[in-house]
Amino acid sequence: NQYKVAVVGATGAVGETMLSILAERKFPASAVVALASERSAGGKVAFGDEELLVHDLATFDPSSIDIALFSAGGSVSKEYGPKFAAAGAVVIDNSSTFRYDDDVPLVVSEVNPDAAKQRPRGIIANPNCSTMQLMVALAPIHRAYGIERINVATYQSASGAGRSGMEELGKQTAALLSFQDITPAKFQVQIAFNLIPQIDDFQDNGFTKEEMKLVWETRKILGDESIGVNPTVVRVPVFYGHSEAVHIETREKVTVDAARALLAAAPGVKVVDERKPGGYPTPVTHASGTDPVYVGRIREDLSHPRGLDLWVVADNIRKGAALNAVQIAELLVAEGLPPKAARG
Ligand code: A2P
Repeated sequence: NQYKVAVVGATGAVGETMLSILAERKFPASAVVALASERSAGGKVAFGDEELLVHDLATFDPSSIDIALFSAGGSVSKEYGPKFAAAGAVVIDNSSTFRYDDDVPLVVSEVNPDAAKQRPRGIIANPNCSTMQLMVALAPIHRAYGIERINVATYQSASGAGRSGMEELGKQTAALLSFQDITPAKFQVQIAFNLIPQIDDFQDNGFTKEEMKLVWETRKILGDESIGVNPTVVRVPVFYGHSEAVHIETREKVTVDAARALLAAAPGVKVVDERKPGGYPTPVTHASGTDPVYVGRIREDLSHPRGLDLWVVADNIRKGAALNAVQIAELLVAEGLPPKAARG
């Protein structure tokens, strides 16, 4: 079976990685269509060794598309996602627009792949990047020991804010090193040589929306509304790769050795946990440009009898967004989704 695939937001940080991962993994596509705004229509994007012409989403006819990967922001998903679905495409959406709708599955390919089969609206949501890597690492522990509570502090890279986020980090860094003034635009305050404890908008409860995504999405993906999640999310001056200091409390005690053995066998996880300098994952030394979710610094919490501490690092653009979206598309292939061309 060969599928006609659309990538919406193909010129963006996530979209370009979706294209390279589709090529890398030899996704069974009869054609791949790159879509973006009118601004970049007529330009080119890379698809493996080929180049694709970028088309304007606003004037594109989706009727021949089998699978559409969306990563062009919430408002684009809201307007065009349902149009593509109505035209018979399965929409895999990277925005938060549909994630909390009961009739839209929220899927991490290693954790709840079967959820992708129930998609009454033809839309499958891709989780937030921070939740994604947390779930890959914690789902095996939850299944074996039951997680009651998760305390998590994130260290999220600039690429999570898209191409313009990375450009701002680069430009501010260069400007400050040459003693020039800077004016924050994409980020709320200076990001170069700084930390920003705000991602997305503030909610009435004092948490930011990015923090609440960790609460809502963890419960939906693990199918357990009783899990307590207490997040603090922070933007850091790193280009690629999110890191998380994770403290969990389990129903049954988990030892370091048991956790290490469980995680070493878990799909999508790579344990890097040597108690020596550099024997742990970092965004630059391990995660950036790679697929696994890395786990290190595994320790038993000194302050809680059933507490475990972990350090979790992954490439937010790959596993946190583009890779998981392509893996969801691969679930559709495995399920035997009939391509439109074959349906005649
Ligand atoms: P464009 O390059 O034409 O602006 P990032 O998250 O890295 O900033 O990328 C956002 C992606 O979403 C880009 O590919 C961008 O295309 C695309 N995009 C933004 N707004 C629209 C829109 N109104 N219609 C189609 N694509 C859009």
